[in-house]
Amino acid sequence: MTDSTPVFAAIEDRRSVKRFTERAVTPADIERLLDLAVLAPNHRMTEPWRFVVLGPEARRSLGDIKARARGRWITDPEALEAARLRMIESLGEIPCILAFVQRLDDDPAVREEDYATLWMAVQNVLVGAVAMGLGTHVKTGAVLEEPELRTLLGVAEGERIVGLVHLGEPAEIPPAKARTPAREFTRHLP
Ligand SMILES: Cc1cc2nc3c(=O)[nH]c(=O)nc-3n(C[C@H](O)[C@H](O)[C@H](O)COP(=O)(O)O)c2cc1C
Repeated sequence: MTDSTPVFAAIEDRRSVKRFTERAVTPADIERLLDLAVLAPNHRMTEPWRFVVLGPEARRSLGDIKARARGRWITDPEALEAARLRMIESLGEIPCILAFVQRLDDDPAVREEDYATLWMAVQNVLVGAVAMGLGTHVKTGAVLEEPELRTLLGVAEGERIVGLVHLGEPAEIPPAKARTPAREFTRHLP
């Protein structure tokens, strides 16, 4: 712990964790974390979030979808198949994956605020996870637009997949990445 204030410590100790132990994340852990998610500030209390918890089969399907999306440029079928199997295995081994989905409001201004709210909900989960001895890794990218992923997650028209969060007990905690002190980005007005 780098700070004696628990919230500060959880923020300061958070890392994007790449390797997890085999320990399962319990349904109670997931519920606790998602209960933190919905405490995020939410202008107009639109409650724009939907959460999808991916079990082992869904995680392997995600691996399959990711590998096929990334492998479109791979011409060698054997190399493609090997990469696909590796991706299925590696995502199947992540103890838990959470998908954060936004219900898209008709009003673009509300939609933008709701998107911000979704990321605040994600951050609550990331920080809460540290306090529970768990690690996380946010994942986004082109795969979120894949129709097969939308089908897998049961995402309806008028909803957006905002991000995926890998969750589990860290097998290894990466070192902190260097950050420029905030004061270098800060102006104080009289
Ligand atoms: C909106 C967002 C999207 C991200 N997408 C990815 C991603 O697709 N793949 C990935 O490996 N990391 C992703 N990350 C994690 C960042 O790369 C990571 O937070 C950054 O390298 C800093 O490392 P740290 O989280 O350990 O401090 C994402 C983070 C955020 C906030």
